[in-house]
Amino acid sequence: MIDRATVDRILDAADIVDVISEFVSLRKRGTSYKGLCPFHDDSTPSFSVSPVRGLYKCFSCGAAGNVVNFIMRHEQMSYPESLKWLANKYHIEVRERELSTEEKLQEGQRESMFLVNEWAAKYFHNILTHDVDGIAIGMQYFRSRGFRDDIIEKFQLGFALSARHSLADEALREGYKKEFLVSTGLCFENESGELVDRFSGRVIFPWIGVSGKVTAFGGRLLDSRTKGVSQKYVNSPDSLIYHKERELYGIFQAKKAIAKFNLVYMVEGYTDVVSMHQNGIENVVANSGTALSVYQIRLLHRFTPNIVLLYDGDEAGRHAALRGTDMLLAEGMNVKVLLLPDGQDPDEFARNHTAEQFRSHIEENQTDFIVFKINILLRGVTDPTRRSAAINSIVESIAVIKDPILRDTYIRECANRTGVPEATLMSQMNRFIFSSREQMQREQQRKIEKEPQPEPLRPATPMQQATQVERMLVQAIVRDGEKVIISDVRDEETGQSVSLNVAQYIDYDLGLDNLTFSNPIYNRILAEAKEQSQNSDFRAEEYFIHHPDIEIAQLAAELCAEQFQLSESMQLKKNENRLRDSVIHLILDFRKDFIEHHLKELQARLPLETEPERILELMNDIKRMREVRNALAKKLGINIVV
Ligand code: CTP
Ligand code: MN
Repeated sequence: MIDRATVDRILDAADIVDVISEFVSLRKRGTSYKGLCPFHDDSTPSFSVSPVRGLYKCFSCGAAGNVVNFIMRHEQMSYPESLKWLANKYHIEVRERELSTEEKLQEGQRESMFLVNEWAAKYFHNILTHDVDGIAIGMQYFRSRGFRDDIIEKFQLGFALSARHSLADEALREGYKKEFLVSTGLCFENESGELVDRFSGRVIFPWIGVSGKVTAFGGRLLDSRTKGVSQKYVNSPDSLIYHKERELYGIFQAKKAIAKFNLVYMVEGYTDVVSMHQNGIENVVANSGTALSVYQIRLLHRFTPNIVLLYDGDEAGRHAALRGTDMLLAEGMNVKVLLLPDGQDPDEFARNHTAEQFRSHIEENQTDFIVFKINILLRGVTDPTRRSAAINSIVESIAVIKDPILRDTYIRECANRTGVPEATLMSQMNRFIFSSREQMQREQQRKIEKEPQPEPLRPATPMQQATQVERMLVQAIVRDGEKVIISDVRDEETGQSVSLNVAQYIDYDLGLDNLTFSNPIYNRILAEAKEQSQNSDFRAEEYFIHHPDIEIAQLAAELCAEQFQLSESMQLKKNENRLRDSVIHLILDFRKDFIEHHLKELQARLPLETEPERILELMNDIKRMREVRNALAKKLGINIVV
């Protein structure tokens, strides 16, 4: 946790034009700066940065936010990572929350492990490029596979000398502790307590995590030695800093391209990733020959929902493509599959084709996952029992898809291809959905019984459906919260003269009837704006765009960048009356929505009531509600047919 004071210092120091200029070439136009948008394929400069408002916005793709959000989006970093990135740029010391003794110990261990890994990656790389044996054996091997220097650099490829203690000796000489050489898996201890290098004699592929740290290594034996040896590859064991099932090889080098193309290619091996990069296709990662885990899928989902599985067209490739893919569907990914021709793996295919050819081959031959599964499972299967089992398996895959429209499309497709009536497939699918739901409930129940689950830190935002009117009211608070719209009115109780700004007025007016917004984040914004209004130098837009809660900051940025119709009339902000009129109008709209909602509820209850007294009561309520609504409507100048 970075403490609030530090966050504020970082936000104060960060100059949005300065920061964005590191990635986009900007030109001054009036008070703002323009450039090509880095978040979509931009041909005209539709990207605009306003230093005054601390905002960037693309008028073409709609991307918008503050400086932290820019780094998050552009560098694919988390919120704390982006803050640290900025702190580093502006030489601000980041003081994090005090850690407990145990946390400190673990942090210390992790830190030490990363340090020794980073050192080892450099060590292996240096041997590959400078050591006589490294060049003769390791480099020679990569050359024979056609790897270029720039790619060897980009992936920090290396070589481990074949003597069994080379790395261990050098590391100890450099002052790295035995403990961390073992816990990272770079070395292991033999029976006599001696340190032995795990990767000796192998070419090295370092695993670099999403934020750029070396988490593990893969080492490949040279071809001359693979004959008869079972372990072509050796990988670092799982550790405090490396969980094989959570990492993806190549994610660090690929993340920008994945976000840019909004697509990721999934391959099996290290060499597939490296060769595709060399070929010019950079949105590619490998899961290293295992089934995809939910962690890996979620990591990818941060960058894109679209995935193409690229495998060799042999039996093993087909098998790999079918494995674990239901999980991709369940996580809401759009899954396509492509099996390469003639048993080639992506590495070979990349070496024999240009990037253009590769991309268009994928484009033309990829099939939708469900269609793929239908083709594979049903080809040549005539035996009724096996056929039915296959169809069941397909329907089971379709059942995990969360989007009901997509499910129906697939069921129709499946019916067309199998000749089984749609209704039959549908009811079978519903059975799967139902039983998996039941199973989930049972599991949840078991979990609850076993141990009480802590409340999730951030409950799913309950109301994405907050009305447009609410949003516009909050927009007024964020943009113009500090502007006075009621000045020098005498408070009848105290006899004092009061002024109200936009935030205070909205808070006051809604408070009269205990009205609140349906979206909790809106209520937080209103409450904070009201509180901040006590400071004479409160500037709502600046305050909210630079808010330390990234959710609020992001919403504020969007609201400030948006061009609602209403803001046209608000553009004459100098004119106090116009701003006041808009706010009052919005609140009336809000009340009307609120009342209409209640009216509907009351009316829905009417047919359910049986007692005459209650019916009468209800009818009275409805009548009163209607009167209020009509009075409001009159104020709003709207005619309502009663
Ligand atoms: N793999 C592994 N351990 C093994 C075999 C394979 O971790 N014993 C992983 C590696 O990440 C490897 C991937 O599975 O890259 C795919 O295996 P394979 O197709 O056998 O290797 P290639 O990547 O094709 O390697 P090469 O072309 O060098 O043979
Ligand atoms: Mn291969």
